[in-house]
Amino acid sequence: MSRDDLLTVNLGIIKTVAAGIKQHSPNAVVIVVSNPLDVMVLAMKQLTGFPKERVFGQAGVLDSSRFRFFVAQALGVSVRDVHAVVLGGHGDTMVPLPRYCSVGGVPLRKLMDDATIAKISKRTQDAGGEVVALLKTGSAFVSPAEASIEMAEAVLFDQKRGAARRGLPVRRVRPQGLLLRRARRDRQQGRGARPRARARQCGAGAPRHECCGREGARRRGEALSPP
Ligand SMILES: NC(=O)c1ccc[n+]([C@@H]2O[C@H](COP(=O)([O-])OP(=O)(O)OC[C@H]3O[C@@H](n4cnc5c(N)ncnc54)[C@H](O)[C@@H]3O)[C@@H](O)[C@H]2O)c1
Repeated sequence: MSRDDLLTVNLGIIKTVAAGIKQHSPNAVVIVVSNPLDVMVLAMKQLTGFPKERVFGQAGVLDSSRFRFFVAQALGVSVRDVHAVVLGGHGDTMVPLPRYCSVGGVPLRKLMDDATIAKISKRTQDAGGEVVALLKTGSAFVSPAEASIEMAEAVLFDQKRGAARRGLPVRRVRPQGLLLRRARRDRQQGRGARPRARARQCGAGAPRHECCGREGARRRGEALSPP
């Protein structure tokens, strides 16, 4: 059974729980644990009507801690010295980011070869299933509980956790193809920083494409730089 197979049953439970939270604790901050997590978080947000800052799911803390543990185990070091970030959905689509993993401040890639890192990334993605296979019935409970407590404490004590995650250069972790397609589309539509700067410079009040950007240069017969 995958996490997605739980959808119908757990949606019913989330509906009951969301109604209870809304009625009895309208100012609550909600940390959702039920799977499939991403869908359940969305359902909880919609059902409670709470702002997005007050509804989030427990995934990245656990997924990152699993990645950290496997790295620590492979290197024979304390898990407390390993820092790691795992992004993406809570499931097979999660994305461990070895680039942002360090051990005692040393980048992981200086300590481990790519094949071992790939193996650890894959094991992290499958770790939930690994626990289910060991338990036979039921899923992991100690690690999600620990992760949930960590998140609850961060909220309760306003610990400003996750600052490093917020500081991540998100554009750089987007697939390269997407960035290139977006840049090409922006150029074609005369959008983006450079065309906007040219549009500001012209000040002629003419429609942007007639006087600015690549179209303007083409009309003026100027040589075009490669896109
Ligand atoms: N986000 C994560 O990292 C993560 C990790 C592990 C498990 N999970 C998910 O957490 C959920 C629970 O997993 P589990 O292994 O603890 O299951 P479980 O069956 O051991 O526990 C579920 C509990 O929910 C209670 N329950 C059922 N219907 C309810 C309702 N309408 N209102 C209130 N309580 C109700 C049951 O009595 C039971 O105590 C599952 O959806 C599982 O996939 C998430």
